[in-house]
Amino acid sequence: MLAAFLVAAAFASLPPDAPRGAGLDVYTSYCASCHGADLRGGPKGPSLRGVGAAGADFWVSTGRMPAAVPWLQVAHRGQQPYLTPEQQDLVVRYVASAAPGPPIPRVIANGDRERGRALFEQNCMHCHGADMRGGSIGRVDWAPSLDRATVTQVAEAIRIGPGQMPRFSAHQIDGAALDDVATYLTSMRGSTHFVGFPIRAGGAVPEGLYGWLAAAALAFFAFAFWSGDEKRDT
Ligand code: HEC
Ligand code: HEC
Repeated sequence: MLAAFLVAAAFASLPPDAPRGAGLDVYTSYCASCHGADLRGGPKGPSLRGVGAAGADFWVSTGRMPAAVPWLQVAHRGQQPYLTPEQQDLVVRYVASAAPGPPIPRVIANGDRERGRALFEQNCMHCHGADMRGGSIGRVDWAPSLDRATVTQVAEAIRIGPGQMPRFSAHQIDGAALDDVATYLTSMRGSTHFVGFPIRAGGAVPEGLYGWLAAAALAFFAFAFWSGDEKRDT
């Protein structure tokens, strides 16, 4: 009864062209149990008021939402988005119309790469790491690797500041700067920074490990050559 009233209230606040039916269906099936029929949240999830299209698209397209279990491990990117692209589009438009907020930023990856690098070093590197593999930012918090985020997700993360990440306003990083950062990040994708052993932990220990592996390989080859010479000599 109350739920029906809240749904009706949510309806009433929608602009006339909002995709009520299908978008509301996806929201009701996959989101309302935690975020509430009125998007105001509850014990299982926060309010979505003000997240806008940028927030909804980021959390859904990166597979963070819909969470399987409330609060547990939701601050992680899923392997795949759980919803189909069509469902994502519908629910993002529904959330954006019922809980207005920042739009999905428009971003193109043909900006100034060098400026992008400088912006990254200044604003992002201390958390996501010079190699963008991510790293620890406190006792339990973790900044993820940036090897999978799309250009749009990068721009959304900058604007909404998910989880422990700060939000950057247009005064701090303007539209052109968004393009520059996106350009730099995508240009790094193909570089050696993301090639290597799939050791996800990052930091000093695995890097030391690479050193040891390299040293061991060198020693092995040195030995192989040396013993080869030995045989030829005799
Ligand atoms: C099982 C419960 C659950 C379900 C289902 C769920 N969410 Fe969430 N959602 C959460 C929790 C808990 C958080 C807070 C995560 C955090 O802060 O790390 C959250 C966070 C979010 C945020 C970020 C809010 C903010 O203030 O930054 C958005 C946007 C969001 N969810 C959208 C959705 C959408 C859209 C759906 C449906 C497709 C959905 N969620 C389904 C529990 C859920
Ligand atoms: C204070 C540390 C911090 C800073 C500074 C920071 N981030 Fe983040 N970033 C995080 C954390 C933590 C998350 C994960 C948030 C979550 O899922 O709850 C994240 C998530 C992201 C994601 C989503 C990655 C994915 O695939 O899911 C992107 C993209 C991103 N950050 C880009 C940036 C960029 C670009 C900058 C600089 C303009 C930046 N971040 C600055 C901590 C930080």
